[in-house]
Amino acid sequence: MPGRDFLQIPGPTNIPDRVLRAMDRPIPDHRGPEFAALVRGLLPDVARVFGTVQGRVVIFPTSGTGAWEASLVNTLAPGDRVLTFEHGHFASLFTRTAANLGLRTEGVPVDWRRPVPPDVVEQVLRRHGDIRAVLVVHNETSTGVRNDVAAVRAAMDAAGSDALLIADTVSSLASTEFRFDEWRVDVALTGSQKGLMLPPGLGLLAIGPRALAASERGGSPRSFFDWRPVLRDNETGLFPYTPATLTLYGLRAALDMLFEEGLASVYRRHRRLARAVRAAARAWGLDVYCADEDAASDTLTGVVTPERLDSAEVLRVAHDRFGMSLGVGLGKVKGKLFRIGHLGSLNELEVIGTLGGVEMALGELGVPVAPGSGVAAAERALTESEAVAAG
Ligand SMILES: Cc1ncc(COP(=O)(O)O)c(C=O)c1O
Repeated sequence: MPGRDFLQIPGPTNIPDRVLRAMDRPIPDHRGPEFAALVRGLLPDVARVFGTVQGRVVIFPTSGTGAWEASLVNTLAPGDRVLTFEHGHFASLFTRTAANLGLRTEGVPVDWRRPVPPDVVEQVLRRHGDIRAVLVVHNETSTGVRNDVAAVRAAMDAAGSDALLIADTVSSLASTEFRFDEWRVDVALTGSQKGLMLPPGLGLLAIGPRALAASERGGSPRSFFDWRPVLRDNETGLFPYTPATLTLYGLRAALDMLFEEGLASVYRRHRRLARAVRAAARAWGLDVYCADEDAASDTLTGVVTPERLDSAEVLRVAHDRFGMSLGVGLGKVKGKLFRIGHLGSLNELEVIGTLGGVEMALGELGVPVAPGSGVAAAERALTESEAVAAG
């Protein structure tokens, strides 16, 4: 198919040309002074995106799944009890990772269509005084629901819990505001392939003082994911292994782009585009899976297909007819919803094009959507939010 394919999955996201060009260079000496200077410059800038001044940053050559493991093995020991919530596919996988590492998981089932209720967090913590960590996914990529991390921390305070707060920001960081220090998060983790507009392959963590102290005192048996030697070697810009050198050059370019746009503007752009996508879904007469508008994700939208239509069919037609990739329904919502990714390097016209493709795919599948209805609703939403922004 001529022209560019539309990659509108909720990550990996499209990589800006500037980032691609930054990685298109000779392999550097990862023990040389130029590379060390690059690394020393990256760490505080990644910390800024996490919203931390007091936290330390570690970057592993791994994916988000590896970053989950790193967050757990450094801070917790087998047998430790952790509180998790079954609020989506990725939250369930995070729970399973904890269980696989020998942690005792208290997996509380909650409504997948809404954020984790803070009162439930408080109740469970009151019931189990020995909970050592609370795991929460800031933005659940399988459902398009954003959790209120500050409210989770407040619930922990209300219960008198001194557990660590570990937050997965894989599909929120660099797209949705995250305030590590203010929300008193102890460990936050992400991957390179979403808001950071990079290829998959980096797992990035912010580590607060309490988590650092926990890792000095104990933790689980660990080797590659032990963050202590990384922190030590990073002081001089080195790593205790061969880092993903070219991706780190890409990270420099991506951070420069985020700071040039301004983080607040990046977050506003994501919010505007997300509202436009939800307006389109409503115009098609389809439900947005997230049932709480205030908690609707800024980075992806789960759209529920009519009862008789397997959502995988929407993906098939979008791909085969229009060269567009959308996100599949995962876990218990498999077949029931498709996900439109709207994060990273993305602008209004790309969103309009995406919605046009979804609309045509739905039409081909016999869903009674008026041609142009979603696109028109999205355009209106974009124009209105532009007018509001202009005062
Ligand atoms: C919220 C969330 N957490 C964790 C992961 C796992 O990350 P990875 O696939 O990079 O291992 C994903 C992947 O999409 C995710 O969306």
